Amino acid sequence: MERIISPSILAADFMNLREEIELINKSSAQWLHCDVMDGVFVPNISFGLPVVSMVGKLSEKPLDVHLMTIEPQNHIADFYKAGAKNITIHYEACRHLHRTVHLIKSLGINAGISLNPHTPVHFLEEIITDVDLVLIMSVNPGFGGQKLIQNSFSKIERLKELIEKKNSNAMIQVDGGVTLENARQLFEAGVNNIVAGTTIFKSEDPKRTIELLLEA
Ligand code: DX5
Ligand code: ZN
Repeated sequence: MERIISPSILAADFMNLREEIELINKSSAQWLHCDVMDGVFVPNISFGLPVVSMVGKLSEKPLDVHLMTIEPQNHIADFYKAGAKNITIHYEACRHLHRTVHLIKSLGINAGISLNPHTPVHFLEEIITDVDLVLIMSVNPGFGGQKLIQNSFSKIERLKELIEKKNSNAMIQVDGGVTLENARQLFEAGVNNIVAGTTIFKSEDPKRTIELLLEA
């Protein structure tokens, strides 16, 4: 599977968001990651529909919407209309995960499930063949700029084993604390899709940083 870099706009300069999105448009990144936080599922509030809709109008890259919210099923249609091409919901936020995954897929877009650091991979046994993507949170969700949790590497390997065992087509995405130093090890563990915010947007040359992540 080809490598994908998904810059997270959570770390972008919101005073110059148009320029930041145009920079990503001109970069070798394949997706644009939008971290939606409700202040309930995670302790932080980030941004919602007005921002994602505007980003969707400016971005030439598919929008990858990461819903860190309770009751994500209530927001799927709105973020689809805002231009999401992938919507990722949290295992821990869903009482009816299978129903919500199929609600997303019924719109003709990709459905992802995200696991917080404490949630084991085997909880996905019965749904791994329904989803297009599994997002391994390598930090506790809610904030950018954190350190990657070391257990993430073996967790990604366990996820890769489950995907192969169940003959799933799911992509493996990782989010949180990704750097130029740990990217290669993440790819070697089985990641196909890297979310990075701080490493990209706080670097001297974000476009070059994206290239270096792709080549890691
Ligand atoms: C956590 C967020 C962050 C963000 C990227 O809830 O999801 O992981 O995308 O963070 P950094 O800045 O660590 O790449
Ligand atoms: Zn995210």
